[in-house]
Amino acid sequence: MEIHIVTDAAEGAQAVADVFARTLQETAEAGTVLGLATGSSPVPAYTELIRRHREEGLSFAGARAFLLDEYVGLSAGHEQSYHRFIRENFTAHVDIDDAAVLSPDGSTADPAAEAAAYDRRISEAGGVDLQILGIGSNGHIAFNEPSSSLASRTRVVGLTRRTIADNARFFENPEDVPVRALSQGLGTIREARRIVLTATGEGKAEAVAQLVEGPISARWPATSLQLHPEVTVVVDEAAASRLELADYYRHTRRLEQAGSVTPHS
Ligand code: F6R
Repeated sequence: MEIHIVTDAAEGAQAVADVFARTLQETAEAGTVLGLATGSSPVPAYTELIRRHREEGLSFAGARAFLLDEYVGLSAGHEQSYHRFIRENFTAHVDIDDAAVLSPDGSTADPAAEAAAYDRRISEAGGVDLQILGIGSNGHIAFNEPSSSLASRTRVVGLTRRTIADNARFFENPEDVPVRALSQGLGTIREARRIVLTATGEGKAEAVAQLVEGPISARWPATSLQLHPEVTVVVDEAAASRLELADYYRHTRRLEQAGSVTPHS
């Protein structure tokens, strides 16, 4: 894993946007496939990507995108659907074709069939070139809550009380927060060729420490990313505050920047 400890959200957004720009450059000819997360963590990076699109000509033309997850029971047009969130916060502001931004259909009558079909659609698109992730305070990625199989595929999941409470801030009433979601599985996510995970704030510090330094375990689903060869973790000082080896990561980062070690070793 490559660990970037940054001073603030703005520096983190630059680091994440750099990974997007590099991936777009490398894969544009074949048609970049992006994996997109919702939630608050990626928003500064999306804002920076929109700025680069407008001011520097960074282009998403020809790209396709797959969202990580969607609430069961919310239609695409619902104010709190992830379908809508990603458009409002990112894709409507860049030159990606709206029809090429896909998410699981939360309003389907058969969520299990929709989950299986969504997983197949990702494979049929050739897989994801770059997946951006946030992390839940309980270590979930997408909505793979603790106890998720490390080999899991896209499926219907029940949300923990903690996740429901964490997400209640987006809803008018706590009882309006859906209790189930369609979520890419840990096995599905790990098939992405490159992953960048971003987190800020003390509330994520334990999950980040487990992700980077903990034993691989279904108790902290994000630890399954340790099995992936190309993960970049971008965290601010508060989210990095429980990393035992933070000084080592800073040192390695300086060596990488100087070109004297190769990232992702
Ligand atoms: C969102 C998602 C979730 C969030 C996580 C962190 O698509 O899959 O795993 O990334 O819950 O959420 P925020 O960024 O709002 O703290």
